[in-house]
Formats: sequence, structure tokens, C-alpha cells
Amino acid sequence: MNRRTFIKGAIALTATAWLNPNNLIDAAEKIFWWQKKGVYQIYPKSFLDTNGSGTGDLRGIIRKLDYIKSLDVGAIWLTPVYPSPMVDNGYDIADYTDIDPRFGTLADFDELVAEAKARNIKIVMDLVFNHSSDRHPWFLESKSSRDNPKADWYIWRDEPTNWRSIFGGSAWQWCEERQQFYLHTFATAQPDLNWENPDVRRALFDAANFWLNRGVGGFRIDAIVYIKKPKIFVDGPADADGTCSVHNMTANTDGILDFLHEFKREVFDGRDIFTVGEANSVKPEDLPDWVGDHGVFDMLFEFSHVNIMFPHGEVWHRAELFKLSDFKRALTDSQLATRDSWYPIYFENHDKPRSVNNFFPHGTDKILAAKALAMILFTLRGTPFIYQGEELGFANVAFDSIDDYDDISSRGQYDLAKADGLGDKEALRFVQKFSRDNARTPMQWDTSRNAGFTSGEPWLPVHEDFATCNADSEARDPDSVLNFYRRLSKFRNSSDVLIRGDYHELYPNSEELFIFTRTLGDKKILTAVNFTTHEVKLPAKIFDGAKKLFGNYPDEKNFLRPTEAVILILD
Ligand code: GLC
Repeated sequence: MNRRTFIKGAIALTATAWLNPNNLIDAAEKIFWWQKKGVYQIYPKSFLDTNGSGTGDLRGIIRKLDYIKSLDVGAIWLTPVYPSPMVDNGYDIADYTDIDPRFGTLADFDELVAEAKARNIKIVMDLVFNHSSDRHPWFLESKSSRDNPKADWYIWRDEPTNWRSIFGGSAWQWCEERQQFYLHTFATAQPDLNWENPDVRRALFDAANFWLNRGVGGFRIDAIVYIKKPKIFVDGPADADGTCSVHNMTANTDGILDFLHEFKREVFDGRDIFTVGEANSVKPEDLPDWVGDHGVFDMLFEFSHVNIMFPHGEVWHRAELFKLSDFKRALTDSQLATRDSWYPIYFENHDKPRSVNNFFPHGTDKILAAKALAMILFTLRGTPFIYQGEELGFANVAFDSIDDYDDISSRGQYDLAKADGLGDKEALRFVQKFSRDNARTPMQWDTSRNAGFTSGEPWLPVHEDFATCNADSEARDPDSVLNFYRRLSKFRNSSDVLIRGDYHELYPNSEELFIFTRTLGDKKILTAVNFTTHEVKLPAKIFDGAKKLFGNYPDEKNFLRPTEAVILILD
């Protein structure tokens, strides 16, 4: 049986197992390790600094492995730790097979893999293969002339198009040396690799195999929808400023799946790993081409539920109001589209604002919100991904000036807002709301200076709420968000219903409540969340005959209080 035959197949097999008793064993083993437990995402730069440099390092992660283990996760996803000029904090890679000295050494990395393994945790690497850094030796060679051996390892053109890069400004950069333009979907310092060239693909696959041979447990694959470019390069439908988002011109271009199947064959097949692709704008109905028996990856981060405020593309000052029914529809569509495969459940990552701000109305109690969202995170069907700090209930920051923001996309969005006629203050307001720096402020470990993150100067300011919101204080409070996460994660990992049960949404049109069930045989678990800041009458007597397993209020009423959430077992 193919490694991508998932639980559904396993259940069907059990029914016919009498034909061949060995199938029963096979069936019982078909829940993969990465389906049984969640994943903890680390942004190493902001995790823990052990040498006073002001940026986190691999030894800091090793030191906190027991903390991570207390969340009962099966893997840690590390955002890039490769050598990098850090224009985009490591997503601009200058060497695919080494560790940046700021983070440590390959020996530190090997120790991390071994120490994590001793705790039954695997390390998952971030592969950034759509583009490299402009300091990568491949690019230095490619740009040096039009006829060097790597001349077509990147995308070179004599004429630019009107495409706007994802971080703002033209997606084409003029190169004096070659007297040509190169394409960069993201920052100028992130030139796009030319996947049409088989040597490029070979070099990238070799790099991925390098890490597999060092014992990593899988990959998160960055910005993968952009690797295939259209056959001809033409101007796209222009926005008011004359430009057209490069995303609309190159994402999911026909033929991309051929590259991806080759990637799978050359790297993933036959390995006991998991893969999760980052795939902005793959639609739920197209998921079967990407994940599952006929797909490429084990899971796909599509953005439908986190980008509902941006129905026309991610331009922050054009954000629409959060609408609960849209959020629920996106989640439900994805749950149903991955019924026969698998889904990565996430509400936060290093590119998104903190979820307690992002999905709840202004004025919501942050602790209630953090616990409410956790109840959804651990009861939907799929692998829960926890982003560092989410388990402590971290909230957004608001810096006073655009100069205080480090994130390259925040600056791009600010300039775009101003070009569209917004004033400084108004443009800053959108940055404060959506900046990726919201997720990148340092981890808050304790109440000491800099929240225990560094003895030096932190590269980004620590959130001012660290005196109350930190791992040490929360570990000692049985009612904290952290302890709630620990209990929920253990419960989810030991519940057959939550791992394997079917998903069904109730009251999809409600703009106040999110209610869904998970069912396996005659066992049923129900999650209900009030997304408002007022009391909401329940549409049915859901508490009748039910036992409350989890809740963010200590007692029960026959209505849901502001931001109240419950997980019930219905027998
Ligand atoms: C992905 C990463 C993001 C990065 C971009 C370019 O979206 O998550 O952080 O800036 O790709 O590599």
C-alpha cells in the first residue's frame, strides 16, 4: 500500500480484513506519526538567545526541548536557519547545505536532531526553493554574463513586465553586469530560480536529500506555487498604479504539478517523513491534486481561512472586515476537501498577526480568545500546528513608527498604502494590524530583563505584556493558556474520535457561533465557540446529555458567554 493511503483507506481495509488477516496489522499501522501529534513551529531568530547576540540560536532551542515536549508534539518546524544575508530573515538563502553562524553550526544542528529524537520529536526543515539569495554563488555566477554555465539558472529578460513583487515595487530588477532584468517574486534580494533547467532541479533535490540524510523528519516547502512560470511573459491587468500583482500572473501555472511529482519521486518517496507545502491560493476543490493518494504533499497550507479579509489579494489597507461565516466556510471547505487525505490546522505562523487579535472583535478578553481558538485547533481533523507564543496567548504589538518595523513586507505595504493616498498615521495603522512583526517579537520566557530571551539587546523589542504573559508564570498557573494547551494537546493525541472522526459543521450561517462535531462510530465530540463579546443563546440544547471535557469558563450555562468555548462529549 502506498504511503499516502490515509486513514480512510485504513478503515475500509479493516472491513475487508477477514480476507487477509495481515491487512489488519497493515490497517492499524496506517496512522502516520505526524497524524498522531501536533507540530510546534519555531522562528529561531526570536526563540532563545544563548550568547547575548540579541538573536535566538540553535542552542537556545536545545535548551527548551523539554518545554516543547510538554506540549506533546511530534515535530518541530524550524523556519530557515541556513546562511543568509537576512534581508527576509533567512528566506533569502545563500547556501542550502549549511547553518548560518548566527544560529550555530552543523554540529549544533546534529545535536538538536539527536536531543529532539531522544524526546520523540523530529525536526522539520523549511525548504525555500522558489528563490535563493542574490548572494548565493549560483546567482553571482548567473549574473556575471549571459553565457556562463549558470546563465539560465534564474529568470532573465531584456524587457520587464508590469508585475508587482509580493513585497512591493517592480518584480524585475535591472542588472548592470548582464544588462538584463531578473525576476524576483519577493524581495529584490530574492531572485527566482529557473525550475525549467534540470540542473537547477537536481541541485535543489540534492540539497533536500542532504538534510534527510542528517535525520530530519520532513519539510515545510516555502512559496511552492510560484516555481512554474508562464511560457510567455506579458503585462497583466493593471491596478490604479499601473502594476499587477506577480501572484496573479505566476501562481499555480499549468505544468507545476509535473515539477512537483518529480520532486516527490526524487526526494520524498520511500522516506518516513511528512511534507507540507505552502500554497497560497490553491482552492479547496483542487486539493486532491496536491495532497492525498494522487497528490504530491502530505498536507498543504492553503490560506483560505487566514486571508478572508483579503478577497482581492493581500493588500493590507484594502482589508475587509472579518466575517465569521466566511472563516467557517473556508475551514469547512478545507476539512471536506481533505476528507480522504490530511489537513494542517493552523491559525498563526511567522507571517500572520496573532490570532487573538486577528479573529476576534476589538475588546475581546485575550485569554478567553486564546483558549477558544485552541479548542478549534485541537478538535478539527488534521495535524495541529502551534506557532511559538500561541500556546502562551501572545498578542500583537504596535510600534509607533514605520522605522521600528523590521519586516520587509511591512515597509512595502506601508509604501503601497501611501502611494494609494493614505496618510502616515493611517498607513501605520494597517501595518500595526497586519505586520508580520506581530508574530516575530521575542519569546517571553520569564519576568526577567528582556523576558529572559537575551542578555543582550533583542533584535526586535519584547512585547510589553511579558510581566504577566510568559512561560514561567504560566507554567505555575493551572488555569493558564499554556496549561490549557498542554491538556488539550494530550487529549487530542489520545482521542480516536479527534484523530480519525468525520467532521460536520452545524449552523454554518451563524455570524456568532462556530459549532462542529467529530464522529467515529457511535462516539461524538462537539466543539462550540462564541466569537462575539456578548452572550449568545444556543440554537439547540447542546448541553443536554453531554459531558463537558474542556471549556474556558469554569461552569456551564444554557447559553454561551462572551468568547465562551466548550468541547463536549455526546454519547
Ligand atoms: C513564505 C514565507 C515568508 C517569506 C516568503 C518568501 O511566504 O513564509 O516568511 O517571506 O515565503 O520566501
